[in-house]
Amino acid sequence: MDGERDSAVSGIRTPDIDRIQTPAAVPEDDFDRSLRPRRLEDFVGQAAVKEQLGVFIEAARNRGEALDHVLLAGPPGLGKTSLAQIVAAELGAPFIQTAGPALERKGDVASVLTALEPRSVFFVDEIHRLPRALEETFYPAMEDRKLPITVGQGAGARVVTLDLPEFTLIGATTRAGLLTTPLRDRFGVSHRLDLYGPEELAQIVRRSAAILDLEIDDEGARVLAGRSRGTPRVANRLLKRVRDYAEVRGAGRVDAHVAGEALELLEIDAAGLDRLDRDILTAICLKFEGGPVGLSTLAVAVGEEADTVEDVYEPYLLQQGLLKRTPRGREATAAAFAHLGLERPSRGAASLF
Ligand SMILES: Nc1ncnc2c1ncn2[C@@H]1O[C@H](COP(=O)(O)OP(=O)(O)O)[C@@H](O)[C@H]1O
Ligand SMILES: [Mg+2]
Repeated sequence: MDGERDSAVSGIRTPDIDRIQTPAAVPEDDFDRSLRPRRLEDFVGQAAVKEQLGVFIEAARNRGEALDHVLLAGPPGLGKTSLAQIVAAELGAPFIQTAGPALERKGDVASVLTALEPRSVFFVDEIHRLPRALEETFYPAMEDRKLPITVGQGAGARVVTLDLPEFTLIGATTRAGLLTTPLRDRFGVSHRLDLYGPEELAQIVRRSAAILDLEIDDEGARVLAGRSRGTPRVANRLLKRVRDYAEVRGAGRVDAHVAGEALELLEIDAAGLDRLDRDILTAICLKFEGGPVGLSTLAVAVGEEADTVEDVYEPYLLQQGLLKRTPRGREATAAAFAHLGLERPSRGAASLF
């Protein structure tokens, strides 16, 4: 796919499709791949999302049309990429994956879109990081399957409109709030994935253990589930570590006791908080007297990127009622002080209002 294209698009250098097609935002090893659910029925939890997508997929399949464009929002590790792949598998459609930051020029988009097989699923991860200038290229492509491009230069320049094959754009984002309204409006289907409950996580742990041929009892699965921050990716990661522990220190079998010991070794506490979770809360409680403190200041205090603190750590701390987001910044709750075994500083009357 290198080099000059046919006459209609001559003048556009076709970029290297391999560069645009990112394998995955987070490199995936065999372990991750083997645990990824392949079909809708393997996808645990998120009942409403699954049911709706199931209906839309079947309808599209029966009509022999591409599925409407789908936006998937939610914190990392909740199954956005998995769902996108599942949609393609259920549709029996090719799956092409890229990420917002990998698309730099209009020609990048043109070369991928024009090369799509009809009814492909085109997955754009981190779609909130798509360059603004490129967003406008997506509007007519999503709406009318048209791609206007300028060919030639100077006085000889003219606009050629390319017809695109039918396709389904699936956008994934950890920050739906950063998408512009016109882009968001062009998705016919939009879902937000929420953190998973303990029962669902236990089910994911048991499913993964079965795939890995690891023996785990219900209590052991429950202990892991309770410490997975509501996130399937974390549950699988912990399972992997616990498996190591069970093989080296136990009889290769995971029960509540083995799971508890392994988690202790990993410095994951009873509330499922890891070291950085606790660093964040400790910083707010001690350095900033409970807050409010701005996100960037907080991030510097714990030596992490602000984006990571906001996307990866805060959702769970918020859900657990340990952290509050206020217009003036982040605050630790009474529960956070209690969890860390700290005394809450007494406050002046002003902070009551
Ligand atoms: N609903 C689910 N059921 C079973 N496993 C899941 C589910 N959601 C996520 N996972 C597991 O978690 C891992 C991370 O999911 P992924 O789709 O990559 O999340 P995201 O794209 O939202 O960051 C997957 O490899 C898969 O093993
Ligand atoms: Mg992903």
